[in-house]
Amino acid sequence: MTILVTGGLGYIGSHTVVELLKNEFEVVIVDDLSNSERFILQNIEKIAGKKPAFFPFDLKRKELLTQIFDAYEIAGCINFAAYKAVGESQEKPLDYYENNLFTLINILQEFKVRNISNFIFSSSCTVYGQADEMPIDENTPLKTPESSYGKTKQMGEEILKDFATAYGRRVSLLRYFNPIGAHPSALLGELPIGIPNNLVPYVTQTAAGIREKLNIWGNDYPTEDGTAIRDYIYVVDLAKAHVKALQKLITSNEETVIDIFNIGTGKGSSVLEVVEAYERANNVSVPYEICERRPGDITIAYANADKAERELGWKAETSLEEALRTTWEWQKYLESRL
Ligand code: NAD
Ligand code: WQD
Repeated sequence: MTILVTGGLGYIGSHTVVELLKNEFEVVIVDDLSNSERFILQNIEKIAGKKPAFFPFDLKRKELLTQIFDAYEIAGCINFAAYKAVGESQEKPLDYYENNLFTLINILQEFKVRNISNFIFSSSCTVYGQADEMPIDENTPLKTPESSYGKTKQMGEEILKDFATAYGRRVSLLRYFNPIGAHPSALLGELPIGIPNNLVPYVTQTAAGIREKLNIWGNDYPTEDGTAIRDYIYVVDLAKAHVKALQKLITSNEETVIDIFNIGTGKGSSVLEVVEAYERANNVSVPYEICERRPGDITIAYANADKAERELGWKAETSLEEALRTTWEWQKYLESRL
């Protein structure tokens, strides 16, 4: 069975392609390399022992996408392709709406005319904003995200719900919490482009001496140590959730399915806990300074992921420290390539 994986050379996409290949799916990747690099394709092959088909083009180019659907019998799609920098989305909202939504609609148009079902969408815990109660389950009310990036995720969810309802198709909306870590082979991981915004890549570069110190954005939050709390989910665990979600869609007897799953560990960790875990796991030092809060940041978010366990038989397995060890190995691999 052939699955189209858009953004399949990106951070989460590449790990998921490996899991799909391990589970005997055929994979066709479309990725325009706007936030990824070609060597990732070779590394996927090194790990999985198989090479997925790869087409480097922008999914906004509908005529090229049509050719892929003509050439392959696509049975489903996991759609990772999107721009994802929250801050940048505030400066370039139109680029974000265009890239994240036009690409989605282009794929769905092909699905519609060819009568294809089984679509998995990379959503985000950002759709909950600062929830009133913890942990966050799938019935927690959504809040309009502050960033244009976040809005593209909420709009993407709505587009997919309408698509599934109107045309009788199966879709799964996976709301990831904070993905971290790298493949245990150290051949795949998050590619740092410019100055990292996210915590773990910044901590890694600080430990490696690329950055002088970590700025901790606020220690006056109403949490035990004053720093903000998130749910850090290991990327290989996250990748496995996609395979489970896809298998559920494929084997469903229903014509219309709208699945929504939180994908997180169910455990919150503060910024300081992450820094300390990183130092312990890798025997490194991460100098830091406490700074003002970062505008737009919430205090706390962690998942109730029981629904994924109940309905997908999926649950996070990897500890924070283990995930942080793989991050450090990936950093060493990147340095060895220089
Ligand atoms: P990533 O940037 O590493 O991967 C996205 C890939 O899509 C990149 O390889 C990029 O080159 C490609 N791409 C982007 N626009 C494209 C286009 N128009 N045509 C073809 N390819 C295109 O990001 P990631 O961290 O792997 O995230 C994957 C998905 O998960 C995204 O949709 C993101 O919004 C979502 N998500 C990410 C996080 C996170 O913290 N990483 C959290 C929640 C949700
Ligand atoms: C985590 C914590 C920071 C960097 C973002 C997106 C969200 C989702 C995941 C895609 C916060 C603190 C960070 C630093 C710090 N992505 N921090 N110093 O903000 O939870 O979520 O990525 O959907 O939509 O908004 O993740 O890794 O940026 O921050 O103190 O240099 O680390 O303040 O408390 P965030 P993050």
